[in-house]
Amino acid sequence: DWERPLTLPDPGTSRRRFLNYLTNLVLAVIGLLMLVPAVRYFLAPLWRKHAAEGGQPDFVDVGKLADIPLGKWRLLSLEMVHEDGWRKTKVRHAIWVSRQEEGEKDITVFSSICPHLGCPVNWQPDQSRFFCPCHGGLFDVAGKQTGGPPPRALDHLDWEVRSGKLFVRWQDFKIGVDKRIVVNV
Ligand code: FES
Repeated sequence: DWERPLTLPDPGTSRRRFLNYLTNLVLAVIGLLMLVPAVRYFLAPLWRKHAAEGGQPDFVDVGKLADIPLGKWRLLSLEMVHEDGWRKTKVRHAIWVSRQEEGEKDITVFSSICPHLGCPVNWQPDQSRFFCPCHGGLFDVAGKQTGGPPPRALDHLDWEVRSGKLFVRWQDFKIGVDKRIVVNV
C-alpha cells in the first residue's frame, strides 16, 4: 500500500511568516502616520474657509496704550495675514487712534480709508478735521462727513485693551455707499 509521507509544518517557517506579517503591519502603520501631516496640509484651506465663514478677524496688537498721547490723533498700523487657500499674504493697514483721557474708556479708532473711493485720509490738527486729498472729502473730529463727496462717516473699528495694550480688529468696508457694510467676513 502506498502511504502518503507525513509532512509537518516547519516551525521555523511559520515564525518567519508571522514576523514578516508583523513587520509589514508596523510599516503600514508608520506609513499612515506619515501621511497625516500631508493630508492635514491639503485639507487646511477647507478648515480655514469654514472658520472664516463663522467668525470675524482677530484683534491685532497695535502697541502700548501709554504710547498714545492724550488728546491727539495718532496714525498707527496693524498687520493682517490673509489666507487664500495655501497662500498667505501679509497686509499692513493704517488706522487713526485717539485717546482722550487716562484709562481705557475714551478711545476712538477709525479706519484710514475714505468711504468715498478708498484714499487714505489725513488728520489736520490746525483745522481739527480729517481731510481726504483725492476729492476733498472732509470729516469732523467725530468722523462725521462735513464736506466733499464721501457718502458716510469714517468707519469705526472695534478695539479692546489687554494688559495695557491696544488691540484692534481690522475690517474692510464697502466704499461708495452710505451704509457701513463689512466686506471681509
Ligand atoms: Fe476720499 Fe474721494 S476718495 S473724497
